[in-house]
Amino acid sequence: MKLNSAGYFVYFEKNDFNHLNHFLKEHSFSNIFILCDKNTQKYCLPLFFKENKVLKGANVFSISSGEKHKTLDTALTCWNFLLNNNADKNSLLICLGGGVVCDLGGFIASTFKRGMHFVNVPTTLLATADASVGGKNGIDFNGYKNLIGTITQPEGVFINDFFLKTLPVRHIKNGFAEIVKAALIGDKKLWKKFLSLSKLPETNLTSFIHDSVSVKNKVVLKDPTEKNIRKILNFGHTAGHAIETHFLDKKNSLLHGEAIAIGICVELCLGKILTLTSPKIAMEAFLFFKKHYILQFFSEKEIEIFIGLMQHDKKNKNGELNFALIEDVAKPLINISASAQDIKEAFTLYNNLLV
Ligand SMILES: NC(=O)c1ccc[n+]([C@@H]2O[C@H](COP(=O)([O-])OP(=O)(O)OC[C@H]3O[C@@H](n4cnc5c(N)ncnc54)[C@H](O)[C@@H]3O)[C@@H](O)[C@H]2O)c1
Repeated sequence: MKLNSAGYFVYFEKNDFNHLNHFLKEHSFSNIFILCDKNTQKYCLPLFFKENKVLKGANVFSISSGEKHKTLDTALTCWNFLLNNNADKNSLLICLGGGVVCDLGGFIASTFKRGMHFVNVPTTLLATADASVGGKNGIDFNGYKNLIGTITQPEGVFINDFFLKTLPVRHIKNGFAEIVKAALIGDKKLWKKFLSLSKLPETNLTSFIHDSVSVKNKVVLKDPTEKNIRKILNFGHTAGHAIETHFLDKKNSLLHGEAIAIGICVELCLGKILTLTSPKIAMEAFLFFKKHYILQFFSEKEIEIFIGLMQHDKKNKNGELNFALIEDVAKPLINISASAQDIKEAFTLYNNLLV
């Protein structure tokens, strides 16, 4: 199974890497590099080599795992590794990992010598269902999420859900947040399926991954460089990124999807306050997240900090805070501006709905 994306294919492999092997045979790369993090080196690389004997001689380099390492310092280490190992424009970088490895790997590959080849082999639910597709890559900078990066499409995405077997349950739930977002912005049938679940599944995730990638891919194909409708993929992310950023260096740090789940709830409240989101879907979706995720109460001080962080969001224009919301399921709204007062009210409504 494959999906045609913006100049490349997203392949759904079946417990093997036939498509990747074919891709490698079709190209004659001068050199092959594999970027991992400490966990994907341990859990995924052996499986990957087993299925891709031809890659055994590739140059493997590994970064520390987690969002805290999606930084310029890590990018510098990677560029040095590529330089010291004679990478050139005809070399291939395989990003074998979650959203952090795919985002960072895509960034280093798209900038090294003004661009070398790269493909994504995602290994988390979040990356298989979302982050590996669409060509957005980058690093966090000075505490702000994804502040520096490029939109450069990979030359292939090779999805194989056998990697998910070693993924901790917390990370499965984390990935589901982006799949639920995909349902809310673009797939009524998938949303109905979510509503029927008493618990988020932990295995047999292929159809969820496929549906999520299909929603994202359709949007990306219409607007690869985010001039317009692609902004809807940021639903939940203006508030979510601020929350994720604030907690990043705290003891109780949140995973990306956990912050996005909360961000979606806050933005559903915002849509309700601005009378843009149907109160029925706002409540239905809020209750869904309340049932499956840990939604925490925020103090006034924290809300002020979040608003301060949102002021640096990439979607803002002329100092106005900009949101992507929904009117209803599969009815997206983009370029919605909101004042700091509106956002405060949205957080207050969010807090009130928790009790
Ligand atoms: N580019 C995009 O379009 C896009 C979209 C959504 C999210 N993102 C980004 O994705 C990132 C989050 O991605 P993530 O949740 O995958 O985080 P991650 O890459 O940090 O992976 C989560 C954890 O799982 C480990 N891991 C990965 N695969 C494993 C496996 N198969 N078995 C065991 N452990 C494994 C990793 O080492 C890490 O500790 C954020 O930086 C976010 O901004 C990007």
